Amino acid sequence: MLSDKKIVLGVCGGIAAYKCADLVSRLVKEGAKVKVVMTKSAQEFITPLTFQTLSNNRVITDLFAEPQNWEVEHISLAQWADCLVIAPATANVIGKLAAGIADDMLTTVVAATKAKVIIAPAMNTNMYNNRIVRKNIDYLIDMGYLFISPAEGRLACGDEGLGRLEEPGNIVEFIKRVFDKGEDLKGKTVLVTAGPTREIIDPVRFITNGSSGKMGYAVAEAAVEQGAKVILVSGPTTLTPPQGVELVKVTSAREMYEKVMEYFPLCDIVIKAAAVSDYRPVNVSSQKIKKTHDNLEIKLERNPDILYELGKLKTKQILVGFAAESTNIFEYAKEKLEKKNLDLIVANDITRDETGFSSDTNAGFIMDRDFSMENIPKMSKHQMADVILEKVKQLIK
Ligand SMILES: Cc1cc2nc3c(=O)[nH]c(=O)nc-3n(C[C@H](O)[C@H](O)[C@H](O)COP(=O)(O)O)c2cc1C
Repeated sequence: MLSDKKIVLGVCGGIAAYKCADLVSRLVKEGAKVKVVMTKSAQEFITPLTFQTLSNNRVITDLFAEPQNWEVEHISLAQWADCLVIAPATANVIGKLAAGIADDMLTTVVAATKAKVIIAPAMNTNMYNNRIVRKNIDYLIDMGYLFISPAEGRLACGDEGLGRLEEPGNIVEFIKRVFDKGEDLKGKTVLVTAGPTREIIDPVRFITNGSSGKMGYAVAEAAVEQGAKVILVSGPTTLTPPQGVELVKVTSAREMYEKVMEYFPLCDIVIKAAAVSDYRPVNVSSQKIKKTHDNLEIKLERNPDILYELGKLKTKQILVGFAAESTNIFEYAKEKLEKKNLDLIVANDITRDETGFSSDTNAGFIMDRDFSMENIPKMSKHQMADVILEKVKQLIK
């Protein structure tokens, strides 16, 4: 149920706008309070009167209309909403949101809200596959907007393909899941590691890797959202830490090892998404190394294997590792799971563009101690974080 949930529905100028009458009706039946905002183009497809009647609320169409209560309406609406849903979302509105444009009531409310924004695109297949549209969608996913992918089928223009607005019933289910995240991890302490490590060679050089930290930061954010106390031990990244985490910044693998060991006894769940350097230089030069020889050899020594050590020490903790591999992914994942005494391993192929280190999306599989595997199709790292936490919660139960 969506009892008393306050939902702002933004309707844009797409042929599927009529389906939103059904959507409003379903949301109201679920107990939600719905206020509809329509773009100018949306009113070419369906009248505000339809939504007014179904939602029992005045439909908002004009940014500059005389305010009803002498409030700044776009701000009060943005604050009122528990959640914003845009359906059907046009290529135009998606582009405006990605560019930060706020030139009508809907885009201005989105810019002003702190509530979750759920976007359900609908358009012709070629429009949906347009590279700029896809880039805008990827960017918005990275910014934390939630997308309901369009369905395949016969489109209004006569074409067959991807682009149909998802069925209203499924949109309602998606909205329910967003609200239902609940506080399942309340009372749990989750330690997440993220990002690369740096192994210093001299004052200007270091050994590192291409990890962006996005996967670990997404897991940390999702765990906070579900009520956990989250300690995020992070190597150097350019990311803004999620609200509500305790951030512990480290640089080298040894620093990460020390911090993880310090916090480990306090934790119920450990999710190690960091890409830790296996080796470090034996000697760190205090001066910049000059190019005096044709060849330069840097001798390396092993760093501590954090996950392996945790696997030996663990008592009550659920331990989740990642296997970012370029070959034999299944075999490596299985071997790592056993050798390091993990409860779950998330494996992905880093050679693919959409699942690589700095990509906003990921895909792969998650394997448990019985080696049973669940495939994870391509999705945003935020959505993947939810999938991982769902698995962890099943183990806790
Ligand atoms: C008959 C018709 C159907 C349209 N259907 C869609 C659609 O399904 N998706 C879309 O992105 N644009 C569609 N458009 C184009 C949008 O209406 C147009 O880009 C408009 O500027 C969108 O305005 P808005 O985003 O402010 O609502 C359609 C246009 C017409 C005339």
